[in-house]
Amino acid sequence: MTARIIDGKEVAAKVHEEVTAGVTEFKEQHGAIPGLTVVLVGDDPASLSYVKGKERACEKVGIATETILRDSSITQEELIWIVKRLNTDPAVNGILVQLPLPKHLDEDAVIHAIDPMKDVDGLHPENAGLLMLGQPRFAPATPLGVQRMLVQENVDMNGAQVVIVGRSKLVGMPLTALLLQKGIGANSTVTVCHTGTKNMAAETRRADVLIAAAGFPGAVTADMVKPGAVVIDVGVSRVEDSTRKRGYRLTGDVEFEGALEVASAITPVPGGVGPMTIAMLLVNVLQAAKLAVTNR
Ligand code: GUN
Repeated sequence: MTARIIDGKEVAAKVHEEVTAGVTEFKEQHGAIPGLTVVLVGDDPASLSYVKGKERACEKVGIATETILRDSSITQEELIWIVKRLNTDPAVNGILVQLPLPKHLDEDAVIHAIDPMKDVDGLHPENAGLLMLGQPRFAPATPLGVQRMLVQENVDMNGAQVVIVGRSKLVGMPLTALLLQKGIGANSTVTVCHTGTKNMAAETRRADVLIAAAGFPGAVTADMVKPGAVVIDVGVSRVEDSTRKRGYRLTGDVEFEGALEVASAITPVPGGVGPMTIAMLLVNVLQAAKLAVTNR
């Protein structure tokens, strides 16, 4: 069997269309443009590239966007001061502090300082808690993107055995909460594997839907995939490649060529989950703008 390749760019384009229509309607109704501000500390090339992608996508759908760039020498107080200023700025509907932050900064303290009504990353404890309770306000964009792709691909998630490899606060944890909920694209039986898992392959081989979010290439090999499973690869790593002009290529967590012969459908890297993350961030920003006017 050769798996069908799920085209994240195609699904993302559909979401972009919906957001563009939503932004136009919002402008007509409220005379304002939804706005996202991204805060980027330091000059990590991967983070810079993500942030550029976010800017381009915002411009495409008509969301106002600004990026605040700061040197990695910024202090905790200065960074929190910036976040608090954005909290009070009515033109800013969504705030995203790009992670990871340099080691000397307390990531949790910075995220906790974001107004939960502007937390389009869904990482503030209030939003994470609401998601866990089945009352989502903002869920993190990557899990939302994974779920939207599965729905778009008509994968029957109701009662499906889902195995997630990785328990991060950006992906594994919130995705578990999303897929456990009752409703469309959810109501699944979810197992989460992590560094403490005893027999990882035995767990992953039970998966109808296998989601790799461990963050390193080769975390999921072909022998870990059940024949006919749907494989979603959330990982993005840069690996050295002298044959490429940039000197590197992007690779996911899954041994792609091998898994392609076992799975029924699989997402590529790049061009799979990545574009969906950005698309769902746009959805969250539009939603934040709507919440801001209803709470005015
Ligand atoms: N770094 C990698 N992915 C993300 C994300 O979704 N949000 C934030 N804030 N930082 C990230």
